[in-house]
Amino acid sequence: MKVTVSRKAHFNAAHRLFVENWSDEKNQNLFGKCSNSNFHGHNYELIVDVRGEVDLVTGVVIDLKELKDIIKNEVEELLDHKNLNLDVPYFKKVIPTAENICIFIWNILRDKISNDNELSVTLYETPRNFVKYSGN
Ligand code: NI
Repeated sequence: MKVTVSRKAHFNAAHRLFVENWSDEKNQNLFGKCSNSNFHGHNYELIVDVRGEVDLVTGVVIDLKELKDIIKNEVEELLDHKNLNLDVPYFKKVIPTAENICIFIWNILRDKISNDNELSVTLYETPRNFVKYSGN
């Protein structure tokens, strides 16, 4: 029997969204306030879903303490209270939209979680705007 185990996490980060060779006006039209030149912050909420077989001996899919530590050490340490554009090398070339941050986090976690388990990452940029990535 497969069950999805989920862990919530949180980080604060700043960003600015812009396509480098577009005019300010064109960037404002697509990204709105997220394109303001002096950066701004979001309270990101992260939900990590790990789906897999329930172990017959332990009764769990994954050690939640281990999952908590992986998220803390690999994601929060890297992104919390950072300016994504300036402080995180990956986002020097990649625009730090919720979509791209979600893919970035998924790739980090995919390396750390057993391939026997499916992984899905949901990222809330605001309480109403969120994205989800499950690979591919
Ligand atoms: Ni923004």
